[in-house]
Amino acid sequence: MRYLVAGGAGFIGSNFIRCLLDSDVEILNFDKLTYAGNLLNLADIEKNKNYTFVKGDICDRKTLKKVFNKFKPDVVVNFAAESHVDRSILDADEFIKTNIAGTHNLLKLSLEYGIDKFVQVSTDEVYGSLGKKGFFTEDTPLNPRNPYSASKASADVLVKSYSVTHGLPVVIGRCGNNYGPYQFPEKLIPLTILHCMKEGKIPVYGDGLNIRDWIHVLDHCRALDAIIQKGKTGEVYNIGAKQEMKNIDVVKSIISEVAKKVPEKKISERQICFVEDRKGHDRRYATDPSKIIKTLKWKPKISFKEGLCETVDWYLENPSWVKSVFNKSYMRYYKANYSKRKVIA
Ligand code: NAD
Ligand code: TYD
Repeated sequence: MRYLVAGGAGFIGSNFIRCLLDSDVEILNFDKLTYAGNLLNLADIEKNKNYTFVKGDICDRKTLKKVFNKFKPDVVVNFAAESHVDRSILDADEFIKTNIAGTHNLLKLSLEYGIDKFVQVSTDEVYGSLGKKGFFTEDTPLNPRNPYSASKASADVLVKSYSVTHGLPVVIGRCGNNYGPYQFPEKLIPLTILHCMKEGKIPVYGDGLNIRDWIHVLDHCRALDAIIQKGKTGEVYNIGAKQEMKNIDVVKSIISEVAKKVPEKKISERQICFVEDRKGHDRRYATDPSKIIKTLKWKPKISFKEGLCETVDWYLENPSWVKSVFNKSYMRYYKANYSKRKVIA
């Protein structure tokens, strides 16, 4: 089987490619290498005979068509996206281009080349925000509330429309918040680990009581594999590990884990700094994964405690990777997102 993986040089895509290369698949990774795409994420497998990398933009249909023509994929898996909510609040242009128009290019070419399966890697954020009770199911109406989730919801609707109108064999996976190795440090978990290491302030938005439903990236990758193997055309599968946590508790767990592993540094909860909230900050995400558990026999294997311990180890053991992502462009983003936020406590 030949898989065209779009956005495979990012956090989840690179973990997915590494997982799948052990099986009998040929993979072409098509990635623009934005600030979030990093070939170091795949350095250990770049010479694998079943793996090819092509640098390219899913918004550039001409180049994408050449790739479809030459590689002739059986399966297309679309990870390519602008993925960070805070950046979409600063400027959503790239989110609209890549997440919507880019996905449309992939759909159009997938139809033209008659692929066997199109998998859209989506998010539970398309459902919006929950109150204290309840869970997102696949029937929960879409109610995205920030430009990132609006662009992902738009893509989901487009993907579905290609199934209904043109009979393209599509499946959508909607996953909760991922964590694990190779995650870009703009996201809460790696950001907190690295701020601990620098003995600097750890920014927590608002009251810190927003809730996210965490899943280890490798559990997500195995779920996507199950969707490719057994997912029913036209269906949506929610992916989650039922590990809801308040942001402040996530941050405190990280502080305690890093402090234990690096006792020579002054790491403590005194580093926590409550700052002005994210605009339109969704209060709670919680996903009901019953459908994928029952119908595809997938289940998550990695507990948050175990996964976090391994993730902290990974960031501590990979200083050259960390150095590679702390560049000028990241510093510019960091300043734009954090420097004007009022400190609350
Ligand atoms: P990421 O930001 O780490 O990686 C995105 C990748 O897409 C990068 O390699 C980047 O270079 C590439 N890319 C961006 N624009 C492109 C373009 N125009 N053409 C080709 N490549 C392009 O993101 P991630 O966290 O790995 O997320 C991957 C996918 O999973 C995204 O679609 C995201 O919406 C979805 N998702 C993420 C999470 C999460 O917690 N991170 C949860 C659920 C769903
Ligand atoms: P994030 O990792 O950006 O993922 P998402 O927005 O997709 O859920 O954020 C996770 C949670 O952590 C979210 O509620 C926002 C919060 N957060 C902070 O409190 N401080 C930060 O500096 C960041 C980046 C996030």
